[in-house]
Amino acid sequence: MDFDKFTFRQIDADTRIKSFDCGDADLNDFLISDAVNYYKSMMALTYLLEDNEADKTVAYYSLLNDKIVFDPDEKKLWNRLNRRVANSKRRKEYPAVKIGRLAISKDYAGKQIGRAILLQVKHIFATMRRSACRFITVDAYAAAVPFYEKCGFMFLSDKDKHSPTRAMYFDLINFPD
Ligand SMILES: CC(C)(COP(=O)(O)OP(=O)(O)OC[C@H]1O[C@@H](n2cnc3c(N)ncnc32)[C@H](O)[C@@H]1OP(=O)(O)O)[C@@H](O)C(=O)NCCC(=O)NCCS
Repeated sequence: MDFDKFTFRQIDADTRIKSFDCGDADLNDFLISDAVNYYKSMMALTYLLEDNEADKTVAYYSLLNDKIVFDPDEKKLWNRLNRRVANSKRRKEYPAVKIGRLAISKDYAGKQIGRAILLQVKHIFATMRRSACRFITVDAYAAAVPFYEKCGFMFLSDKDKHSPTRAMYFDLINFPD
């Protein structure tokens, strides 16, 4: 895959969205109909990877601020998360950034683009410290859970084991080690 021919940009109020189909109607519809409105309302910021030659959207993801909150029913998973936080900094809540949506076009799936996008998000939030953000969170579609696990994400809860989405997190503290 020749990544050089792709361009990356942040959505704004005037963005014209290039055609996109990831195979999931809700994710397609968000990009085509709602992403610009979310930008205008300051509720989620969407990033686009585009193939200008083909006039297509290759992939998109949207980000919003989040926090991870201690759930007393999930002590075991919480202890695993907390172990990597210095004793004096342990809290019941931690700052995070949420991947609200992430989707790759069917035409470009399975070419390591999803992994590369997550690497980029990890890099940005681990290095550009404008506001402290310890974790990346995502409510992963059940079908995408193995993808997030391969990219180092862990489960936040066991309660959603049989739900359509699972809450997952990535700890940025030692990235990229
Ligand atoms: C799930 C999705 C984001 C993955 O992106 P992608 O660019 O196709 O994935 P990559 O090529 O970067 O895959 C990275 C690794 O995850 C694995 N992987 C990707 N999707 C997977 C899946 N659905 N099930 C199991 N493993 C998967 C790949 O095999 C690869 O493993 P490897 O490095 O050992 O070879 C993409 O296919 C997609 O948008 N799907 C439809 C919408 C969706 O479910 N979005 C997630 C919403 S939370």
